[in-house]
Amino acid sequence: MQKLIVKGKKRLSGSIIISGSKNATLPILAATLLTDKTTILKNIPLVQDVYTMVKLLKFIGLNIVISKRLNTLKITNKKKLKTIAPYNLLKTMRAGVLVLGPLLARYKKAKVSLPGGCAIGVRPVNLHLFALEKLGAKIKIKNGYIHASATQGLTGNTINFPAISVGATENAILAAVSARGKTIISNCAIEPEIQDMIVFLKKMGCIINFIGKRKILIIGTKNFRSLNHEIIFDRIELGTYLIAAALVGKKVKFVKIKSKFIETEIKLLKKMGVKMKLEKNKIIIFESGKLKSANVKTEPYPGFPTDLQAQIMVLMLKASGKSKITENIFENRFMHVPELRRMGAKIVTKNNVAFISGPINLSGAEVMATDLRASVSLVLAALIAENKTVINRIYHLDRGYENLEKKLKKCKAIISRV
Ligand code: UD1
Repeated sequence: MQKLIVKGKKRLSGSIIISGSKNATLPILAATLLTDKTTILKNIPLVQDVYTMVKLLKFIGLNIVISKRLNTLKITNKKKLKTIAPYNLLKTMRAGVLVLGPLLARYKKAKVSLPGGCAIGVRPVNLHLFALEKLGAKIKIKNGYIHASATQGLTGNTINFPAISVGATENAILAAVSARGKTIISNCAIEPEIQDMIVFLKKMGCIINFIGKRKILIIGTKNFRSLNHEIIFDRIELGTYLIAAALVGKKVKFVKIKSKFIETEIKLLKKMGVKMKLEKNKIIIFESGKLKSANVKTEPYPGFPTDLQAQIMVLMLKASGKSKITENIFENRFMHVPELRRMGAKIVTKNNVAFISGPINLSGAEVMATDLRASVSLVLAALIAENKTVINRIYHLDRGYENLEKKLKKCKAIISRV
């Protein structure tokens, strides 16, 4: 099994190119099931979750060619597709459930494996099913599979989500764009990745517009066009490297990004004392002086993202005083805490709240991670720790970070994979 070895305390300088967003690529790939026209996707991140989604779509029947050199994908879809998504492809990547909406809209039926739980929480799909039922789907759960059908086809309706969910919003949109008539979705998630999926769908010919902050109007259509789309940058990857730069950077530059999508993160970093120069499409992080403690709670966008919670905790270890993190999205997302403690961190957790005392000097250790963002927080901790840190189970990192060690090495970090 592969490991990462990091020698800490090396100052970073240079520039980091941020990849395309994994969480935008996955629903956009699922959206291509709606059409038999050719789709070209640019700026796709070459990460394991994207490969798993491609494998699932190929199983269903799409013809997909990836250019790894150009980070592009070409998708053609001429034949009749299967309407099944099997367990072996959904057990490692929950976003596979996003094929449910488009398959149901196009073929009036779908059988999709229940994705099951994962390290960070139970993660049910009741809100996905709630939305599809509103559009007229009949749903049964049998033998670990969701059996969905709409013999007369899906029909537009009002979907008022009782709670905000990224995936359920995506599945609802992907079904409604091809349903008969008008759908209004309210209390929906508005993450930049969903906004990018909407831009993609509009280019494809879908009729979809925001009519309120969390309210979308969709008029169903089956007339789709061929299209080219460049995936938005990965704001979570950017946030991760901004924190790395705040921890050990001398001068680190990030270009071709849109700072408007990370306003909450920027505000927090500034409040903590991180020195930066901010432009519309560029950020430079300078060597930080003394950092200040902070209170953060994770929330749906535009709030602070749960996917950066583990990483900001590491920055709080370098800040003077007591910081506090309240995790509001997932019930079991402090799995990185025991590992950080093994490196010397002073963190106490109580239910969904973590109290972090700083500043503290970490020391390298052999550590292991349980999910994607927890793994990367250990890499960040390793960058500030004395001596050598060995990070095990890095297959988690490969699910969502493209060329992590290459990007850090280019900025002079001492990091290698063995
Ligand atoms: C997406 C992201 C993930 C991110 C999360 C929250 C992708 C591929 N993944 O995951 O990286 O951490 O948003 O920003 O984009 N819930 C229900 N019932 C449902 C669906 C969700 O109770 O049917 C709950 C979840 O258990 C969780 C909360 O709602 O507590 C938010 O989950 P959701 O927004 O759906 O996350 P994902 O789409 O799975």
